[in-house]
Amino acid sequence: MALTIFSPRSTADRQAATERDLRLFYETRILPRGTHPLDETKYAWGQLTGADQNLADVSSLAVKIEAHPGPAAEKTVIAAEVSRLPTLARFTTERWLPEEREHPNGLGLWLIKAGYRTQDYLEYEMKTVRSTTREDFFIGRGFTALQVSIYSMVQELLTAHFYFAGYLYNQSLGANSDPTLGRIFSDLFKQEFPHFSFYRGAVRIMWKHNPDKDELKEALAGFVMPTRVYAPEYPTDYAGQLGKRVGFKTGEVVDILREEIVSYVGHSGLAKIAFGYGQRQPSLPLKAVAYALTPLAYVPVVSNGAGHLLVKASHALFGVEKRSLEDSVGTDSLMNHLDKLDKPL
Ligand SMILES: [Fe+2]
Ligand SMILES: [Fe+2]
Repeated sequence: MALTIFSPRSTADRQAATERDLRLFYETRILPRGTHPLDETKYAWGQLTGADQNLADVSSLAVKIEAHPGPAAEKTVIAAEVSRLPTLARFTTERWLPEEREHPNGLGLWLIKAGYRTQDYLEYEMKTVRSTTREDFFIGRGFTALQVSIYSMVQELLTAHFYFAGYLYNQSLGANSDPTLGRIFSDLFKQEFPHFSFYRGAVRIMWKHNPDKDELKEALAGFVMPTRVYAPEYPTDYAGQLGKRVGFKTGEVVDILREEIVSYVGHSGLAKIAFGYGQRQPSLPLKAVAYALTPLAYVPVVSNGAGHLLVKASHALFGVEKRSLEDSVGTDSLMNHLDKLDKPL
């Protein structure tokens, strides 16, 4: 009698299936939406108002953070090669990197033309940032494809919302708003959001084929804001403070990420990740909550309850209500706004 032995799927099979899904996702969900090329020559440089210091500060920080996308791309491509996911490398080198390389240009020109920075100063700052090597870069050493994608997913969401906040804040200035800067911000978030969509899709697909909780936890708990690497001269929470000044919606970002993490690892997993993050990131407001709930997180019976408690606590901290991902993107949300723009994303 012949015996059929069922062996677990081999790594090569799993990688091939992941790549197949990823390629299909890229070709059917991302590519057809097209691109939104940036072109600083089309901006109305003659009509600058440039009277708002908060917007100058947002633009200066953004120029620094955007000045050197190369190391992130290199780490992603290495991880993609190790995991045999050419589509991850393809998106990163064909689309992400060329778009990111353009990102400091419009804002840099605006800073110069509006009189906030000299060309020499900006060039000096960019040169300093560009001396950062791949090894200094904040994506962890030896990160897997899942981990680099998680990292990029979080970062793209943050940058998209950061520009969106700048855009809305500029609009709120009414007669004192700067239409050119508004256009630059709008063009930027229309590129950043599809970056988020791609990496979120990549994480979902990789998770489906290989749900590795430790990898996910390590990448999220160790997340470092890019400001810490590219603008170390600023205080640790500088980006957060600046965000508050222009109405950055922390609650909305937290909501989206929370829903996303819960969909992978449930509330108990979210709690454990939050505790790990709180412990590693001393400046974060969640630190106190993380310490308070850490013992609960490791008791399996109550860990899901602890996760719910953490979510409640995060609502209190960030002033957001419990909502689903779909509901969380309300009237003023980035996604909602994108729908109304000329080019559907
Ligand atoms: Fe960017
Ligand atoms: Fe981006």
